[in-house]
Amino acid sequence: MQTEKQQNETVLTGIKPTGDQHLGNYLGAIRPGLDLVAQFRHSLLFIADFHALTTVQNAAQLREYTLQIAATWLACGLDPARTIIYRQSDVPEIFELAWILSCVTPKGFMNRAHAYKAKVQENQSEGREDIDDGVSMGLYNYPVLMAADILLFNTDVVPVGEDQVQHVEIARDIAQKFNRAFGGEILRLPRALVKTEKVIPGLDGRKMSKSYGNQIPLFMESKALRKLVMKIKTDSTPPEAPKNPKDSLLFDLYKEFASAADTEALAARYAAGIGWGEVKELLFQAVEKHFSEATAHYRELMAKPAELDRILSEGAARARELALPLMNKIRKAVRG
Ligand code: TRP
Repeated sequence: MQTEKQQNETVLTGIKPTGDQHLGNYLGAIRPGLDLVAQFRHSLLFIADFHALTTVQNAAQLREYTLQIAATWLACGLDPARTIIYRQSDVPEIFELAWILSCVTPKGFMNRAHAYKAKVQENQSEGREDIDDGVSMGLYNYPVLMAADILLFNTDVVPVGEDQVQHVEIARDIAQKFNRAFGGEILRLPRALVKTEKVIPGLDGRKMSKSYGNQIPLFMESKALRKLVMKIKTDSTPPEAPKNPKDSLLFDLYKEFASAADTEALAARYAAGIGWGEVKELLFQAVEKHFSEATAHYRELMAKPAELDRILSEGAARARELALPLMNKIRKAVRG
């Protein structure tokens, strides 16, 4: 439900392009993200390509991943007329603000950031002499850049997974440091909206993730999709044995894509005994049907990168325009 308050609030979210678009992302992030942005009057969604630069250091790769994310969200229903969609690196004010913010950010904030701490811990447990081995300044400053992403747009709400909550808190703390240093309520304090991310099982039953190599990518060709669905792990219960939908990976996935009536019908078939091969066939069909339009749209967009570039540039122009009054205020506050 849309509340009075949310109507006037600004929601902003960023996605790091790392080439990881699969059913797990769709169910855990894209679908709920689309539902959420629809509840706010002002919404921004951007592709954090320069955040990805800490790991993706290949221009062609970064561009490909960036276009993939844009095409994925657009194909899944993001309306660029309602939600401003842009590429982070097309908005230079973000990087200008990041520098300014870094000057009021205590180094200790960064020392305490999870990603950096994890890296240090790894170096220590591997017995490396340099605890900062493999730590670039980009990785270290990552939370400052993220604070700039958020604060530049007077963001109220940042929907994030558990792992990013600390970053939003750091953004709040940095905003307060800035306001204190430069006299007044210049930067708005954002709050995190924690999405309890549904864990979607992958082919082997573990959480679907690129790093486990157990994902079902979005927008696959029909044949390849079918083949992959057939690979989902099942046990050796014979076809005629009654089965419990509650501990069935296949059922967990099916219910995400099928109608309530079809889900109920499948539950009844489980009770009566159904072979896994048949369930897989039903799951394949449900997934295929669910994404048929989006897949066509995705292919169309990816076939026309110039069109995607145009959408992203238009979004960046709107984002810059939106940011300009605050950026001017910030410049004035810091240099007169
Ligand atoms: N750090 C986020 C992630 O890894 C991506 C991100 C960058 C982001 N800037 C942001 C998310 C600003 C929300 C708001 O998922």
